[in-house]
Formats: sequence, structure tokens, C-alpha cells
Amino acid sequence: MRHFLTLKDFTKKEILEIIDIGLEIKKNLKSKIYKKELENQTLGMIFEKSSTRTRVSFETGMFQLGGHALFLSNRDIHIGRGEPVKDTARVISSMCDMVMIRTFEHSKIEEFAKFSKVPVINGLTDSYHPVQLLADYMTLVENNADKNIVAAYVGDGNNMTHSWMILAAKLGFELRIATPKGYEVDEDILNEALKLAKESGAVIKTTNDPKVAVKNATVVTTDTWTSMGQEEEKEERIKIFNGFMVDDKLMSLAKDNSMFLHCLPAYRGLEVSEEVFEKHSEIIFSEAENRLHAQKGLMVWLKKQNQ
Ligand code: CP
Ligand code: NVA
Repeated sequence: MRHFLTLKDFTKKEILEIIDIGLEIKKNLKSKIYKKELENQTLGMIFEKSSTRTRVSFETGMFQLGGHALFLSNRDIHIGRGEPVKDTARVISSMCDMVMIRTFEHSKIEEFAKFSKVPVINGLTDSYHPVQLLADYMTLVENNADKNIVAAYVGDGNNMTHSWMILAAKLGFELRIATPKGYEVDEDILNEALKLAKESGAVIKTTNDPKVAVKNATVVTTDTWTSMGQEEEKEERIKIFNGFMVDDKLMSLAKDNSMFLHCLPAYRGLEVSEEVFEKHSEIIFSEAENRLHAQKGLMVWLKKQNQ
């Protein structure tokens, strides 16, 4: 059974295949060609955290592919009041054809996948956000920015950073990560990424200086300083992350015509300035739209693999 829990379990070839299927489906959709590749299939979507893009893209994507998606929030199902993950997995996977989960601990989705009879997709955990990286990479491909990538991530060492590290390590590009002291990426995940990077030729560097990371970068990206579940730390983090905003001054160090990506939701005046955000908004919102297309590619790919 192939699940999609992190990009670690996927080869470069497979990642590019998923993107290609997504791009083909996108092209067809724009020409009003709808192939019902998931007809009569259902996707169970468990959300233990909020979402705009992930919910809308999976639900819409499943409908467009001829299937149906069920929105299951932890306020409504028993997982939120103590039914074990392994029981929930066995029940939902006996009725649905695929399951998407957004949750806290990554171990929870691993436990779910272990007991699931159908493919499980990670819609974000505290440690990884791999579906976002499919959309991000698709956006680079569409803009011919996927060759000789030098990516800079500025901000919190979080689920997005970890997924950028794995993508870089798998595809073999350069990634520089700038975080404040004490907010670095997870050491075990970094070591795993560095090990994978040795095989692919990727270069992954960490620093506490945003300028060092952004110098001559072709892609600059960031994410919120306060992820879901860290709300109580918000005020403290705003003080500590002072100097880590991606603004015009920082962007001026990147290569001319460099791209700026943001997974959204964005907090202007914190991790990104209003000016940088608006200057790059066309790409940012196409990146968000690509969640729909990339995930349709993923679901079709998973279906084929698990037939
Ligand atoms: N980028 C992203 O995953 O957005 P949502 O939290 O709105 O789903
Ligand atoms: N790091 C953010 C990503 C939101 C899409 C969070 O986990 O809240």
C-alpha cells in the first residue's frame, strides 16, 4: 500500500510523475475536459486543525474527478473525544477509498496509515506539509523556474521547512534555511535530509542570517512564524523573529527576477512585507490554485499505484 505521508518515501521520478499528471489534469480542466478518473470513489478528510486551501482543494478536486469527499472535523467525529486512531482508521478505511488527514503529531498519521486499508494522504502534520510542496514545485515548473534552483527559506523551522528540505534532497537542488536561534529545523529530519542529499547532489545549508540564505537565491519562501497549535507563543515569537521579515531590502539580495512563494495564510508585516507580498501575488495565488491540480495528480497516481 502506497501512502503519501512525506516525500521521503518517493523517488524523484515519482514526484515528477505526480506533477506531470497534475499539469495534464490542469490543462484539461482549463479546456473543460473532465476525466472522471475517481468515479464512485470517496475521500474521507479528517481535519484536526483549520484549513481553507486544503479542504477546498481536496473537496473540489475529488468532485471534479467524479468522486465525493467527506469533511470530518474532530469536533464531529469520535477521534476528537478519544476513539483510538487505529479504530478510526479501520472503520473509515473500510468505507472510503482514500483518506486525507490534517493533524498534530506526525506519529498519529503514521499510526492511522498502519491500520488503514486504503491510501492515506498527509494534509499537514506538525512535522511535514508534503502536498503543499507538490503545488510549490508545480508552480516552479510552470514558470520555468525549476532548473538550477537555489531556494532560500526564511523564518520558522517548521513543517514547511522540513518538507522543503526533503524536496530539495530528493530533487537535488540547493536550499538555504535561515531561522532565528532556537527556532531551527528538527535535527533528526535535517540529518535524514542531508543523508538523502548525498545521493542526489542537493546542497542544504542552515544559518541564522537571512541575508546569507537569500544571497543570489532564485526562489525565496517563508511561512507564518506561529503555526497552528502555537498560538500562545505568538507575541513572544514576533519579538524573537524581528529581522526575519522578507521585505524589499532582503529580496534585493536575491537573483534578478527571483520568485517569492508563500503557502498561505500570510501575515503581512510579520513574515512578509505588504510590498513583497503584493508584488508577487499573482504567483502566490497560482501556487494556491495549484494545490487543486497537484493533489488531483496525487490522488490519480495513488489510485493507479494501489490498484
Ligand atoms: N497552505 C495551506 O495548507 O493552507 P490551509 O491551511 O488553508 O489549508
Ligand atoms: N506552518 C503552518 C502552515 C500552514 C499551512 C502551520 O502549520 O500552521
